[in-house]
Amino acid sequence: MISKTVLVTGGAGYIGTHTVLQLLLAGFKTVVVDNFDNSSDVAIRRVKELAGEFGNNLSFHKADLRDRDALEQIFVSTKFDAVIHFAGLKAVGESVQKPLLYYNNNLNGTITLLEVMAAHGCKKLVFSSSATVYGWPKEVPCTEEFPLSAANPYGRTKLIIEEICRDVYNSEQDWKIILLRYFNPVGAHPSGYIGEDPRGIPNNLMPFVQQVAVGRRPTLTVFGNDYNTIDGTGVRDFIHVVDLAYGHIAALLKLDESNIGCEVYNLGTGKGTSVLEMVRAFEQASGKKIPLLMAGRRPGDAEIVYASTEKAERELNWKAKYGIDEMCRDQWNWASKNPYGYGSEEDSTD
Ligand code: NAD
Ligand code: UFG
Repeated sequence: MISKTVLVTGGAGYIGTHTVLQLLLAGFKTVVVDNFDNSSDVAIRRVKELAGEFGNNLSFHKADLRDRDALEQIFVSTKFDAVIHFAGLKAVGESVQKPLLYYNNNLNGTITLLEVMAAHGCKKLVFSSSATVYGWPKEVPCTEEFPLSAANPYGRTKLIIEEICRDVYNSEQDWKIILLRYFNPVGAHPSGYIGEDPRGIPNNLMPFVQQVAVGRRPTLTVFGNDYNTIDGTGVRDFIHVVDLAYGHIAALLKLDESNIGCEVYNLGTGKGTSVLEMVRAFEQASGKKIPLLMAGRRPGDAEIVYASTEKAERELNWKAKYGIDEMCRDQWNWASKNPYGYGSEEDSTD
């Protein structure tokens, strides 16, 4: 059994909760820091319960990553073997409206974290990057060597943080850093006890579909049906969040190998699925009809994006197991048990 201690920033969020659960079950001591900007303490409580006896290895600090004193205290009280850094703002549209908020939160949060880690001699990091750094790829599947670009401030924070990590490693080669580029995480833990709970109107496809299915919204607007794809709608690489969580355990194990430097890995399934294919799979899984409204393309959207998974398979020994039917089944299980997420109907902003 592993007895290492990991700090998880943003561990109360969607991907964070699923990863923290797998860490606990794998025997890691896990400390979460989150400011609950986009999450709640209910999520942390549920992770603890799901982990059973391993839940005793979870502790939590409510703090903002940019609060250097608070972060210092956390590092003074615990010696960490590694950090998984999820904390950040992630709404593409909001980042266009409020770029300084995104640069402040995502960049300053990361810089403060790296500084405090260095000061305490903790130099192993797994960072949440995104397939958004491939922009509109010239071809698919996207390999890690593809040219990078950013279509919005959110994406630019990911590009800049990737560069910061490379510079940090180049300056001090005892750092070991893994940049994970997630494709499109969907689904929920099969218990239906934890899942995605976005605040306000969902930006992403599946949270929106889920809210239509439970009657919170009347129709799904499909952004573009004139793409050069199987049915005209955009194609993405949807990945079950539980598979993604396992990818982080694989990355932590990789960090224990010598001299890995600063490496980047795609986490996707390698399969492209169109928006309409995904909606149909969800209708099958839920037995609910999703009314559609066809609309124009969403600015900044790419046509087809899916991952080359070879590098992660070869070097992390990790491969996604679940397909879209399981993703939709587990998404519906979570949605039907928690139509208002972790809150109640009264808390919702509908
Ligand atoms: P999320 O919003 O559910 O989780 C992020 C968590 O970070 C939240 O709990 C939030 O409260 C916390 N947080 C934000 N700023 C903070 C700060 N300054 N200090 C402390 N806590 C802070 O998002 P998620 O979907 O779980 O995403 C996790 C990471 O993965 C993010 O960095 C995101 O950009 C990245 N990512 C997500 C997706 C996706 O589609 N979900 C895709 C690619 C990359
Ligand atoms: N879509 C709709 N209607 C909606 C929402 C989305 O038709 O209401 C379509 C989009 O146009 C796109 C597809 O569904 O064709 C997927 O859109 P998402 O917003 O779910 O996902 P994206 O691929 O645009 O972006 C997401 C995250 C980014 C992240 C990227 C890659 O929002 O932060 O995945 O990981 F960078």
